[in-house]
Amino acid sequence: MAGSGIPAADRPGEALDPEAIEAARKLFAGPCDFVAGAARVDSLPPPVLPEVALAGRSNVGKSSLLNALTGRRALARTSQTPGRTQQINFFDLGHRLMLVDLPGYGYARAGRGAVQKWSQLIELYLKGRARLRRVLVLIDARRGVGPHDRTAMDMMDAAAVSYQVVLTKADKLGKDENAAHEIAAAVAEAIRGRPAAHPEVLVTSSATGEGIDALRVAVAALAQPAQLG
Ligand code: GTP
Ligand code: MG
Repeated sequence: MAGSGIPAADRPGEALDPEAIEAARKLFAGPCDFVAGAARVDSLPPPVLPEVALAGRSNVGKSSLLNALTGRRALARTSQTPGRTQQINFFDLGHRLMLVDLPGYGYARAGRGAVQKWSQLIELYLKGRARLRRVLVLIDARRGVGPHDRTAMDMMDAAAVSYQVVLTKADKLGKDENAAHEIAAAVAEAIRGRPAAHPEVLVTSSATGEGIDALRVAVAALAQPAQLG
């Protein structure tokens, strides 16, 4: 891909170690079980595993991405109605990692009170979770970084919660392969200097599977080592 101006490392699947891809695939193809859904901070399950959480605007594709990662059609409920996921859902991935599906931010259908309650819950979770290793901040590739994303990133920067931007719905950009990667480069530039941001922005599509291997590898690197024997 010489001449595209995009470093190989930013092209998911091209610079990845095949062994790492395989190991990550195995982890995500293994058991993944719903553990708990918490609508209040006092009903969060005990932090027994390292955690990776998915955050982002309502309807950005958090639940769909979780399903794509794990190859399940309906592990996490997806919906065309924004605001579907209204509690923090915990999924145990092979006893090595907890995947955490957060309610979307910035959605107002349920009324102000409910929205505030959700964001309060998310904030308490993000700030207080001892074993939270990374938050994946999902951003629709067509929309780019919005005000709610900035607010969430500001909060995580202030609380020193490590996060990584993952662009979703890349398939909706059409056939131009470079379009998504140019957007990724622009987003990477926009978040440069944010202290808690991971510098690499991933491009994904739950519909086509683009970038899913690369995301699996990134997430698997945060899992607890497999038990021997
Ligand atoms: P909330 O739980 O409401 O916050 O939404 P969410 O972020 O979990 O979004 P969800 O996964 O439910 O997806 C929202 C809508 O976007 C659904 O209609 C999905 O089918 C669609 N969608 C999600 N990912 C993709 C994708 O990669 N490509 C396309 N074309 N559509 C997608
Ligand atoms: Mg959801």
